[in-house]
Amino acid sequence: MRKLLVTGGAGFIGGNFVHHWCREHDADRVIVLDALTYAGNRATLATLIAEQRIEFVHGDITDTPLLDRLFREHAIDTVVHFAAESHVDRSIVDPGAFVRTNVVGTQTLLDAALKAWRVDGLWRENVRFHHVSTDEVYGTLAPNDPPFSEATPFAPNSPYSASKAGADHLVRAYVHTYGMPATISNCSNNYGPYHFPEKLIPLIIVNALHGRPLPVYGDGRQIRDWLFVEDHCIAIEQILSADVAGQTFNVGGRAEHVNIDIVRRLCELLDARFASDATLAARFVECPAARGIACDSLITYVKDRPGHDRRYAIDPTLIATTLGFEPRETLTTGLARTVDWYLTNEPWWRSVMDGSYRDWISSQYQRTLT
Ligand code: NAD
Ligand code: DAU
Repeated sequence: MRKLLVTGGAGFIGGNFVHHWCREHDADRVIVLDALTYAGNRATLATLIAEQRIEFVHGDITDTPLLDRLFREHAIDTVVHFAAESHVDRSIVDPGAFVRTNVVGTQTLLDAALKAWRVDGLWRENVRFHHVSTDEVYGTLAPNDPPFSEATPFAPNSPYSASKAGADHLVRAYVHTYGMPATISNCSNNYGPYHFPEKLIPLIIVNALHGRPLPVYGDGRQIRDWLFVEDHCIAIEQILSADVAGQTFNVGGRAEHVNIDIVRRLCELLDARFASDATLAARFVECPAARGIACDSLITYVKDRPGHDRRYAIDPTLIATTLGFEPRETLTTGLARTVDWYLTNEPWWRSVMDGSYRDWISSQYQRTLT
């Protein structure tokens, strides 16, 4: 039986991971530590909390006494570290918050694990610290560049990616200096259920349902490598289950697409759902599809993100050959599942669209139009 501490488990990927782990590892104990920032949502874990399947701790990864207590009281043997400030646009407005959580928070967590797991210079057996990171640490690619491998030098371009690169370097240094049994995954763009609607895919879906403009930055020809979130969870599970301490794995979807294609595909999926289900027009009266008008009529090209990375792409050879990981979902099946999830889980996304969300969206709207 494993005892997991999952940081950031009320966020998008962390929340999906906690659901996945509880389904697949019935006997394990799961403690979720989350500060419930604007991006964290207790509702994501409500069923698991109600069934006492997990223990939810509202707290911050920079709180050393809290971390020490959690390691001690729950005899934690596995850390899965998702907690982060994760939105590039916000990092351009407030870099300090990203350094605090992503760099200082990761180092504080590493220290707590070191203190709990290394006694008199000897490491406890069967412990693992897994750090969840991003492909953005590698910077941007030109159209014909080979995709990022684990050996690609770091060249982060945004305050977000710089702070994640700092965290990755700290994990690497704890492995090298103290022998920490840690692993790192650098993953491409995730999408799926419980995704906060400030990020491209959920933003396009909820804006279309409200009949609001669908903002496409710059020329919309930027490329991302998309991975359905459940596949990312499976990749992390495979890393945690293998004897690979000290290693880093790149995780991707073998699914490079330009942003404008993603936006158009989402519009087509919504148009088709409205055409085949008459109840949607009554529920989402502001959506153009409710009046038989195509959702892509809402597409609006806006001012580009400063320093916008042009292309990300992952070479997944190492994780495919070492652990046998391959994504199960294609972009076609994954986007369809995502649109359907948002159509059937309106209370979840409405609950996160509070005053602070509206302020953020309207500030972005001002920025991109001026
Ligand atoms: P998210 O913003 O949806 O969730 C982050 C969670 O961390 C939230 O629940 C938030 O409340 C919590 N949190 C923030 N600061 C905290 C703190 N100081 N202490 C405790 N909890 C705190 O992020 P996400 O998209 O789920 O990303 C999770 C991780 O995966 C991040 O480390 C991110 O860098 C990485 N990642 C994300 C993607 C992606 O496409 N979303 C891709 C690759 C890697
Ligand atoms: O690559 C992994 C990263 O993917 C993660 O590390 C980050 O946490 C995650 O947020 C994501 O970063 P991106 O910046 O790629 O994701 P975002 O959804 O913000 O944007 C995806 C692309 O769409 C990007 O090129 C910017 C563009 N975009 C985004 C928004 C929000 C738009 O064109 N319009 C928008 O309104």
